[in-house]
Amino acid sequence: MSLNKNNIRAVYPGSFDPITNGHICIAQRAAKIFDEVIVAVLINAQKNPSFSVEERQKMAEEALADFHNVRVCAFSGLLVNFIRSLDSRIIIRGLRAMSDFEYEFQMALMNRQLAPDIETFFIVTEPQYSYLSSSAVKDIFKFNGDISGMVPECVINRILLEGNVK
Ligand code: COA
Repeated sequence: MSLNKNNIRAVYPGSFDPITNGHICIAQRAAKIFDEVIVAVLINAQKNPSFSVEERQKMAEEALADFHNVRVCAFSGLLVNFIRSLDSRIIIRGLRAMSDFEYEFQMALMNRQLAPDIETFFIVTEPQYSYLSSSAVKDIFKFNGDISGMVPECVINRILLEGNVK
């Protein structure tokens, strides 16, 4: 992917299984700061995702279609290698609560050890999304709870189409 050499491309990685309004909020806010944001959907069979990578990517694309400088890609392997392949040096992560901090801190240090030229930027979530997670959304749906306001319409439609989520 080519980019004007003065432009800054940031990568927002995650499982996005499925993308939630919390993720969208982070991507949208990053897109106001960086010239281009790549939402990078992890291909990870070990995590046994509820949705295939194609489905996760499609839902993210639909959810973020209105943001002209946000693109969605899938990736496997080491995140830092993927970031380098995109000519980027920036990782975006959302922070919901102190409970995220330990995991995120460890991951940021690990990535820093692997690639000292790549920086992790944290964006603190909006309070209304601080309780939100992809698993919570799937659980609520399984028990017939209302997930509107937690995920975009394209995700609701996809979940309804599948009729069931793992
Ligand atoms: N709003 C809502 N939910 C959020 C959120 C936000 N702002 N931020 C995180 N979450 C939730 C996700 O929904 C997910 O919930 P779930 O566990 O219920 O599904 C959870 O937080 C964490 O998911 P995610 O942010 O997608 O991270 P991850 O741990 O699945 O993936 C990667 C993290 C992809 C960045 C990491 O695994 C990776 O880089 N993998 C590549 C291999 C590699 O390079 N490893 C070395 C680095 S340590």
